[in-house]
Amino acid sequence: MKPTILSYVAFLLVLIFATQSIPPTTGADNFVYDVKGNKVSNDAPYSIGPVIWAKGGGIKLTDTKNTKKMCPLYVVQDPAEVNKGDQFTFTLIGKQKYLLTSRILSIGSCNMSTYWQINDPEAKAPSNLVTTGGYFDTAATCFQVVDYPKPTSPKMHSYMLQYCPWMCGAGPRSCFNISSYEDKGVRYLASSGTPFEFVFQKAK
Ligand SMILES: *[C@@H]1O[C@H](CO)[C@@H](O)[C@H](O)[C@H]1NC(C)=O
Ligand SMILES: *[C@@H]1O[C@H](CO)[C@@H](O)[C@H](O)[C@H]1NC(C)=O
Repeated sequence: MKPTILSYVAFLLVLIFATQSIPPTTGADNFVYDVKGNKVSNDAPYSIGPVIWAKGGGIKLTDTKNTKKMCPLYVVQDPAEVNKGDQFTFTLIGKQKYLLTSRILSIGSCNMSTYWQINDPEAKAPSNLVTTGGYFDTAATCFQVVDYPKPTSPKMHSYMLQYCPWMCGAGPRSCFNISSYEDKGVRYLASSGTPFEFVFQKAK
């Protein structure tokens, strides 16, 4: 039988259906775990800090430029290992009970209705530093939690953050590793450098 236009169209249709039946994601959803091995809840207060606390304390907000303004505040690592830092909420876009890796979310400060953001991830500091002042579920506040590629401790679940504005509809198709950037003794979180490895600790 000679291939007709019709059979060619039919073949194309089969091809389209076959392509569409491939699931959009690979693998199962991965839960995020805290230092005690419990699942991290979505939209609940946690402090985050380094795996080895001797490397400094937890993440907190600070007005390092001493502008006396409340916003925006910089997201930094407390220099003292005894300090757990502030509490933050990791809120997935879309209702979930538990936090999942590789899903877009916004990171809020418990007693402020603003979210972590980056002004310009491709610029140099201070424009690429993480600050507060963003709005929920926008490109400026579009982060995700991912497993840390080479964990410091095999016994602990450690993670890093990525900033992915394109996943929320803006900018080039790439993610930025959230990293520690030191300036005048202050360790800021920024969009470039060595990824900041951290663990979750549930708020008391
Ligand atoms: C929340 O408020 C308390 C008391 O007002 C303050 O000590 C704490 O630093 C605030 N947390 C943040 C993340 O701003
Ligand atoms: C982000 O970090 C991972 C793990 O260290 C690395 O493989 C990757 O190249 C980094 N991406 C960028 C854009 O720096």
